[in-house]
Amino acid sequence: MEELNNRMVDPEESSFENDFKSESRLRPKNFTEYIGQKKVVRNIEVMVESAKLRQQPMDHVLLSGPPGLGKTSLAMIIKEVLGTELHVISGPAIEKKGDLAAILTNLNPKDVLFIDEIHRMNVSVEEILYSAMEDFRLDIVLGQGPSARTMQLDLAPFTLIGATTRSGLLSNPLRDRFMANLHFDFYHNNELAQIIGNNACKLDIKLSETARDLMSQCSRGTPRIANRILRRVRDFTLVRGKDEICIEEVKTALDLMDIDHLGLDRMDRKILSVIDEYYGGGPVGIEALCATLSEDRSTIEDVFEPYLLKEGFILRTPRGRAISDKSKDHLGSQKLLL
Ligand SMILES: Nc1ncnc2c1ncn2[C@@H]1O[C@H](COP(=O)(O)OP(=O)(O)OP(=O)(O)O)[C@@H](O)[C@H]1O
Ligand SMILES: [Mg+2]
Repeated sequence: MEELNNRMVDPEESSFENDFKSESRLRPKNFTEYIGQKKVVRNIEVMVESAKLRQQPMDHVLLSGPPGLGKTSLAMIIKEVLGTELHVISGPAIEKKGDLAAILTNLNPKDVLFIDEIHRMNVSVEEILYSAMEDFRLDIVLGQGPSARTMQLDLAPFTLIGATTRSGLLSNPLRDRFMANLHFDFYHNNELAQIIGNNACKLDIKLSETARDLMSQCSRGTPRIANRILRRVRDFTLVRGKDEICIEEVKTALDLMDIDHLGLDRMDRKILSVIDEYYGGGPVGIEALCATLSEDRSTIEDVFEPYLLKEGFILRTPRGRAISDKSKDHLGSQKLLL
């Protein structure tokens, strides 16, 4: 049975391939397809152009901002434009100095090394990046105690792109070694509408203007969420035997996904109602809030809170988090709907 399921010559696409392909199909392939983040893109274009003129690697750059706003996509475009190789690793996955040393020594001149979640890298591993970034050199300690000696190893000049959802957690020595620290903002609804429109074309489906605008309104300023909603709505439309996404399909899909008209999902509303009902609207310390929600602090702070703060649903006070009048109104209107 196992063998049948994993048959190499199965003509059908597996669900994994399907997802993977559509995900990569929706990634912007060049600066023209990359909508919004104008300031970030302008900075990068200058850095890329200058590197090409100097015939040297591009300077190291730190990309920071909430998840799903296009950091990885931008790194992929940079590699395309530079015409080099991109090596992608995740900060917390590098456990030992030796692992990072092996990656660094394998780089070719002008290659791009992309370290995702760079703020979660082990400190001892991080230290070997200092000389690697500054002088393209590895300092290796041989032996231990008084007989220990350091050996230096030259590296190919490379570009480090660090991505982080929490630039505040980066150590100063690491942060200082980046030539530029570029911050990603949430997207405006008109930018999301443009992304959704382009991606509907890529997915080969027609889209009404009102459907597109409702989807962009509910995507929390985040292209990844916009794409996810678009794909779900596309599924609905196809299953209903239609060839154009209209507002009814969007409404039904959002309802089934538990996303309300302001783009809040069940977890967002849970956070707000826990502060409201358990803590009288706040302020409540982040630790107490996370314990009540049974979520770890970094998930709340990195994934959920940025949007709730930006939209003024949550207020940060010296004594902890509180909910705003806007939240109270919203929770009230949601209860009326139940
Ligand atoms: N500027 C953009 N224009 C068009 N599509 C975009 C843009 N930014 C992101 N996307 C879409 O959103 C998806 C998620 O983006 P990406 O993976 O680059 O986010 P990220 O910032 O790396 O997220 P994470 O922090 O979770 O790694 C991409 O697959 C892409 O389709
Ligand atoms: Mg990423």
